[in-house]
Amino acid sequence: MSDLRTNPIPRKVHHRDVLQNFWYFTCASSNLKAGAMQPVTLADQSILLGRTSQGEVFALRNLCPHRSTPLHHGKFDGKEVQCLYHGWKFGADGRCTHIPSLCGGQEHFGGNVKCWSYPCREAQGGIWVFIGNLPEDKLPPLPLVEGIGEVHPQIYCSVSYPLNGEHSAYTFFDPSHVAFVHSSPFIRRRSHTIRTKEKHFIPTGLGWRMKRHPAPKNNLLYRLFGKNVTTEITYLLPGVRIEHIQGEKYYAVGIATIAPVSDGETIIHQAFYWNFPYLGPVKGLLRYLIRHFLTEDRTYAFLQLEGLKQNQPFMLMGDADEQIRWFQQLRRAWLEGGSLPEGFVNPLKEATLHFRS
Ligand code: FES
Ligand SMILES: [Fe+2]
Repeated sequence: MSDLRTNPIPRKVHHRDVLQNFWYFTCASSNLKAGAMQPVTLADQSILLGRTSQGEVFALRNLCPHRSTPLHHGKFDGKEVQCLYHGWKFGADGRCTHIPSLCGGQEHFGGNVKCWSYPCREAQGGIWVFIGNLPEDKLPPLPLVEGIGEVHPQIYCSVSYPLNGEHSAYTFFDPSHVAFVHSSPFIRRRSHTIRTKEKHFIPTGLGWRMKRHPAPKNNLLYRLFGKNVTTEITYLLPGVRIEHIQGEKYYAVGIATIAPVSDGETIIHQAFYWNFPYLGPVKGLLRYLIRHFLTEDRTYAFLQLEGLKQNQPFMLMGDADEQIRWFQQLRRAWLEGGSLPEGFVNPLKEATLHFRS
């Protein structure tokens, strides 16, 4: 988990519910070794993530059903988690396998004891946990990156924002803040150099997509991809942004996701995949730049937080803020559809937006 999580996080700000019945990216695969367990918080729920010695990932409620001791204080032998307090043991599916205090003839008391287990999947170097109440056979697919296969990201980082999931996601589709917030030499757009943009969007599944278009030429990073570099960006509920950058020779894909911890904290997970053969030596520099970029947003989130506490309604302005309206409409449509995939109707229409950024 990010070292940035050590800063104090103000509590209970601008409450919005976490959308139910979605997969949430919870941890990078590389951060959970075989035989390890790790507590995480998602949607105010304390969850114990673990990986068995066979390599399978699992997620249990991090609370012993006996007398509520958090399970992460206990031991894990790669197969079973043992609670610290009275030694109850649980398998990776949450089933209680042993209660040391039971005498012969009392074992049946333990037969149906189960610790709540969450659907948990691993793909493309990420571990996702399902928050909701759909049965196993109704679970939706993970929001994976198409076209790259089962690969691990070359770069992964996470940063904690002091906002709820909805506010944290706004930064994914807020073009007008970039010139004022981001200062990296590779992403720099000074406020006096902003220019008019025209972008075309189509609704898609659980969100919308910025149609493929030429990448901005002033961004030095794009020059690495060769000629005719284009980008396409997809935004999905509950807060996922997938950007495909494609040049004549190389591609890169970035996926950013929100993991809402509480009303006052959200972890932004960012992973990058690419097919460049020669970027290994500069991976450290790229990771630094990406973390720098996310941390700039985080710094401004702390500044905005001072005002959000006043609960003033927003004044969304022009096309630049249209995507925030879309995200709000999508969230409403999800809730009105009973938070169920079959009840959801995407309310968005194809659109062209004009804004300066
Ligand atoms: S509280 Fe966990 S075994 Fe008693
Ligand atoms: Fe930003």
